[in-house]
Amino acid sequence: MKILETFRTQARACDELGSPLYGELLRKLVDDYEVGGASTAVLAGHENDPGPSALALRLLGSVHRLVLAGEVPELAAFYPSVGGEWDPVLGWEAFEQVLRSRGSELRSLLNQPPQTNEVGRAAALYGGLLQLAGDLPVRLFEIGSSAGLNLRADHYRYDLADGSSYGSMDSPVRIADAWAGRTLPSVEVRIAERVGSDIAPVDALSEDGRLTLMSYVWPDMTVRLARLRGALDVARLVPADVRREDAVSFLRAVEPADGFLTVVWHSVMWQYLSVEDRAAGVAAIERLGARASALAPVAHLSMEPARRTPSSPHEFLVTAQVWPTGERRILGAAAPHGVPTVWE
Ligand SMILES: C[S@@+](CC[C@H](N)C(=O)[O-])C[C@H]1O[C@@H](n2cnc3c(N)ncnc32)[C@H](O)[C@@H]1O
Repeated sequence: MKILETFRTQARACDELGSPLYGELLRKLVDDYEVGGASTAVLAGHENDPGPSALALRLLGSVHRLVLAGEVPELAAFYPSVGGEWDPVLGWEAFEQVLRSRGSELRSLLNQPPQTNEVGRAAALYGGLLQLAGDLPVRLFEIGSSAGLNLRADHYRYDLADGSSYGSMDSPVRIADAWAGRTLPSVEVRIAERVGSDIAPVDALSEDGRLTLMSYVWPDMTVRLARLRGALDVARLVPADVRREDAVSFLRAVEPADGFLTVVWHSVMWQYLSVEDRAAGVAAIERLGARASALAPVAHLSMEPARRTPSSPHEFLVTAQVWPTGERRILGAAAPHGVPTVWE
């Protein structure tokens, strides 16, 4: 059955990507579903959901949300995200109990699409910006911003294995081993304006938005959760304007400005655009670049899955194009969550 195949595939992915907790839970869910257990009623009607809807992660995220909200303390005891410790036997029993007792709530949470904002990708974006920024202050425009957490990338701290650090030294966000490879210039970046767009923005300042972002981070990935918690705290202090707007119309409205470096950046969002929107997005960025001048330079910085050549594998490449020269280059390659980014 399709649902079981999806769950088994996702279980293997969780094992490989560093979430043994979710790997085990998903295998137990498969066993439970096969014998018509508690999961069958919760998942009824989703039997033929297509793979990309990520049903398994929606279900796990929905349960995690209840854990984070303090509503199911009997399960929280097993979730590292709230200080618990996973136990494959007792943890599953508590999880199964939540499926039974909170079934209708979980069924409605399942309809919410997963939404994330990966703070580790600030390492790729901020490190790229350090290589482009000169003396001018920066106007930062982001597409696919989610909650806009990475619009505050200059307020995070980036620690390197050699003991050096970049960014904001007293930040609650500390990204360990952020970068490797070529040494980056240690320049001060002044960000004068922070504007983002997303078709489904998350409000980083609301309790609902905070819970949404945290619930889709896997509960045993405590380093990512700590970064996210820190970034949500930074968001309370550093304003950013995140608009509900699609990337293309947002890009079309960006203009260069004298005395500023205008930067458009994005991470792991390009794949969600239609073929037409990608072409329109490229055209809008090229139009913006064509209006740049030495007084009003423009840069496009991205961390997106791409191939170096048609036959090479996908990598999360950090690329930059700057105007008025129009010069484009690959700056480095990042891990999917941004850390580490290796500069070339
Ligand atoms: C995988 S998330 C990445 C979010 C963030 N850039 C990060 O790296 O954490 C992709 C984001 O793109 C947004 N998105 C998808 N299609 C979009 C569009 N046409 N215009 C603007 N944002 C879009 C989604 O809502 C989502 O927030």
